Amino acid sequence: MERLQKFIASSGICSRRKAEELITSGKVKVNGIVVTELGTKVSFEDTVLVNNKKIVYEKKVYYMLNKPRGYISSVSDDKGRKTVIDLIHDKRRIFPIGRLDYDTTGLLLLTNDGEFANLMMHPKNEVPKTYAAKIEGKMSMDTLFSLRKGVLVEDIKIIPKQVKIKSYDKKTDTSIVKITLIEGQNHIVKKIFASVNHPVIKLKREEYGNLTLGKLRSAEYRELTEAEILDLTKKKS
Ligand code: URA
Repeated sequence: MERLQKFIASSGICSRRKAEELITSGKVKVNGIVVTELGTKVSFEDTVLVNNKKIVYEKKVYYMLNKPRGYISSVSDDKGRKTVIDLIHDKRRIFPIGRLDYDTTGLLLLTNDGEFANLMMHPKNEVPKTYAAKIEGKMSMDTLFSLRKGVLVEDIKIIPKQVKIKSYDKKTDTSIVKITLIEGQNHIVKKIFASVNHPVIKLKREEYGNLTLGKLRSAEYRELTEAEILDLTKKKS
C-alpha cells in the first residue's frame, strides 16, 4: 500500500506536491470514485485516474552510464542530436540526474525516480563528484594552492574538496588534474580551470559519491545495486 500522492508522483507524471494539488482539487479517482483525502492508501490492484487518465506505475530503476563524447544529457534535443537516453535500452521514463556536457565523458546516473534525482541534486546533500581534467599548460604550485583555497566563479566562491596534479606532458604542454567538487552547476569544472588560465581540453567524471565506473566501457551502463542506492541516499532524506 502506498499513499495516493506518492503513487501518482511515482508514475513520473508530476511531483508529489503537484499530486497533492491534483487530489485536493478533485482531479483524482480511485476505482471510479473521486478522492480528495491526501492520506488515502492505494495498492497496485487499484485503478487510479488523474484527469480521467490511468496512472501506470513504473518500477523504479537506477542506472550508471559511462557517457561517451557527443551525446547530450537530456531526454530530447530540439537540434536532433543524440541524447544519453538513446544509449539506454529501457522503455520507462528515464532521465539523467544532472548533466555532463556534450563533450564530457564518464559517470552519469539516470533514473525514472524524480525524488531520488532531487535528493542527489540538492546542494545540501553534497554528493562529491570527481573529475579528471586534461588542461592546457603546466599548473604551478601557486595556482594549485589558490585553487585549493577556492576561486570565484561568477561571484560564487567554489572551494574544491580536493585538487591534485596527476601528470604533465611536456610534448603537448598539457596536464592531468583531478578535482573533487560538491557543486554541480553547468560547466563548473571548465569555469574553474578557465578562471586560473588553464582551459580544459578533455573532461571525464570518474566518481560520483562512492561510485566509480569500474569496468564499464564507453557507452556501457549497468543498474545500481541496492547497496549503492542506499549508500547514495543515506543521511540525506
Ligand atoms: N563541469 C563541466 O565543466 N562540465 C561537465 O560536463 C561537468 C562538470
